[in-house]
Amino acid sequence: MWLENNMLMALAGLYTAHALSIPKKYKADVKNIGTQEHIFPYLAGSGPYFSYPNDYGISADTPSGCEISQIQLLARHGERYPSKSKGKKLLKTWNTLQHFPYQFNGSLSFIDDDYEFFIQDLDNLEMETTTENSVNAINPYTGEMDAKKHAQEFLAQYADFLEDNREFAVFAASSQRVHDTAQFFIDSLGDKFNISLQVVSEEPSAGANTLSPGYSCPAWNPDEYEDIIGSYSTTYLKAIAERLNRENSGLNLTVTDAYNLFDWCAFELNARGYSEICDVFSPEELIHYSYYDDLTAYYEDGPGYPLIQAVGALYFNASIKLLQQSEQLDQKVWLSFTHDTDILNYLTTVGLFDDEKKLDPSYIPFRNHVFHKSWFIPQGARVYTQKYRCSNESYIRYVVNDAVIPLENCSDGPGFSCEANKFYKYAENRTANQDFYQSCNVSSVSNITELTFFWDWNTTHYNATLLKE
Ligand SMILES: *[C@@H]1O[C@H](CO)[C@@H](O)[C@H](O)[C@H]1NC(C)=O
Ligand SMILES: *[C@@H]1O[C@H](CO)[C@@H](O)[C@H](O)[C@H]1NC(C)=O
Ligand SMILES: *[C@@H]1O[C@H](CO)[C@@H](O)[C@H](O)[C@H]1NC(C)=O
Ligand SMILES: *[C@@H]1O[C@H](CO)[C@@H](O)[C@H](O)[C@H]1NC(C)=O
Ligand SMILES: *[C@@H]1O[C@H](CO)[C@@H](O)[C@H](O)[C@H]1NC(C)=O
Ligand SMILES: *[C@@H]1O[C@H](CO)[C@@H](O)[C@H](O)[C@H]1NC(C)=O
Ligand SMILES: *[C@@H]1O[C@H](CO)[C@@H](O)[C@H](O)[C@H]1NC(C)=O
Ligand SMILES: *[C@@H]1O[C@H](CO)[C@@H](O)[C@H](O)[C@H]1NC(C)=O
Ligand SMILES: *[C@@H]1O[C@H](CO)[C@@H](O)[C@H](O)[C@H]1NC(C)=O
Ligand SMILES: *[C@@H]1O[C@H](CO)[C@@H](O)[C@H](O)[C@H]1NC(C)=O
Ligand SMILES: *[C@@H]1O[C@H](CO)[C@@H](O)[C@H](O)[C@H]1NC(C)=O
Repeated sequence: MWLENNMLMALAGLYTAHALSIPKKYKADVKNIGTQEHIFPYLAGSGPYFSYPNDYGISADTPSGCEISQIQLLARHGERYPSKSKGKKLLKTWNTLQHFPYQFNGSLSFIDDDYEFFIQDLDNLEMETTTENSVNAINPYTGEMDAKKHAQEFLAQYADFLEDNREFAVFAASSQRVHDTAQFFIDSLGDKFNISLQVVSEEPSAGANTLSPGYSCPAWNPDEYEDIIGSYSTTYLKAIAERLNRENSGLNLTVTDAYNLFDWCAFELNARGYSEICDVFSPEELIHYSYYDDLTAYYEDGPGYPLIQAVGALYFNASIKLLQQSEQLDQKVWLSFTHDTDILNYLTTVGLFDDEKKLDPSYIPFRNHVFHKSWFIPQGARVYTQKYRCSNESYIRYVVNDAVIPLENCSDGPGFSCEANKFYKYAENRTANQDFYQSCNVSSVSNITELTFFWDWNTTHYNATLLKE
């Protein structure tokens, strides 16, 4: 503990990161950056953004003869530094390695080569990665760049529709990095737009009027299915630790250290663009790790935890209401930014990635494996709901991380969409009696029973205090 605190202080004092030039030790990054993108899908959604890998080949453009009538977006903040708690764990593992008294062999030998740990300023923990706070100036995977690029893609995709819709409110949960992502996105849209950013509190006291219902849900218990999650084999972690300890006699890495290395890899990519530690893992180890993440998300925040259906119904109900009011409402573009788990809760209620087969902790179900968490909610995740009109009918469909994902039971509309009335029936089936306020025991933290910000932002003005968490 002393060592750890001491080192935290030393780190805080030593570095004031300014990414103005490439330090010598990062020169190789120029050619190495870009060579690790094939592992992004295995990094538990902590590494840089990637498009949904199992694209069915359906164009995300509006089918010909159809016209967009409403666009909704629920997006995650962009690439970031680790959270404070994760940062502490990573520094502990780094501390063990840094104090190893011998030369490193094998895949850890890069550490002897003038390596500098990527967490160089503790104030960056929890924050979006930016050009300014990156470890080197050529990092292409910053949250800042991701949000700006996303906005340009949004402009290109919906150019005609946006021609007549340049004034709207954008909604962000009150975490600093969520706000920053929304702001980068807005900045990138340019000054032809008149956008009002509404910051919606993510404190439990916000109750149901929130983009992050997970925080207002005291009944949610992450350990509810700990027995299932905990039964997943850690043999792959033992193998990693043993291999590294064998290569470097006297090194005593634990299973926990081995686990932390995956996060080190993911977050170093966000902060620097390249990470030697990623090369420690075999493809098999990446698959074991990735499935563990699917399992955890499935039973803590996804279809494996029945309570989640009610949590996700909060935003889903609001989304349905907006779709049904698309003719009456002046605002046609509804962009919201929040956290990964909140998006997962929502997708769970929609049922987009739920084949009703429970994930099995005893083996990896390669053939029947729909629930790849990192594919839906990587850093910078973006879930669009498109409503369009073709001749006299309206249709709805989802675009998740650039890929059209049809509803399994309703995809016979143009572009594999679902006819609006059928969609509302489907949605009613998914949300019936899914009462977030009751199920989550919200009343113990707030008296606010409804999500209203989409409808009352122009009179209420949401400007919650930003949280560094
Ligand atoms: C921008 O939108 C706000 C409403 O959010 C409106 O009051 C203001 O007049 C608009 N400004 C311009 C320049 O159109
Ligand atoms: C709901 O909140 C009340 C008051 O805080 C508490 O007594 C009760 O145990 C909670 N119930 C659940 C299911 O969390
Ligand atoms: C590294 O490898 C060399 C040669 O195999 C060996 O002599 C040395 O002891 C190893 N170092 C450690 C720390 O294991
Ligand atoms: C690793 O553990 C062994 C046995 O407990 C101990 O002798 C050695 O000093 C430890 N190595 C380090 C680097 O702490
Ligand atoms: C749309 O047009 C078709 C064919 O003209 C017709 O059968 C159908 O009832 C119409 N639907 C609505 C909702 O008006
Ligand atoms: C789709 O339809 C099948 C068969 O009717 C049903 O078992 C399943 O629950 C439906 N799935 C969803 C997501 O509604
Ligand atoms: C939803 O649809 C399924 C399959 O049709 C049905 O079994 C179930 O009872 C419906 N649920 C509700 C709440 O309507
Ligand atoms: C969502 O709407 C359904 C009715 O379709 C309702 O039963 C449910 O309580 C609502 N849930 C939330 C969280 O608003
Ligand atoms: C809810 O409202 C009641 C009555 O106004 C008040 O006594 C109570 O403290 C409120 N609860 C919360 C969690 O704000
Ligand atoms: C606020 O927005 C609502 C819904 O779009 C609209 O009906 C109302 O007139 C607006 N109020 C003000 C003060 O702009
Ligand atoms: C939000 O706006 C209100 C009214 O303009 C102001 O009184 C309040 O201080 C603002 N809150 C924050 C956190 O900026």
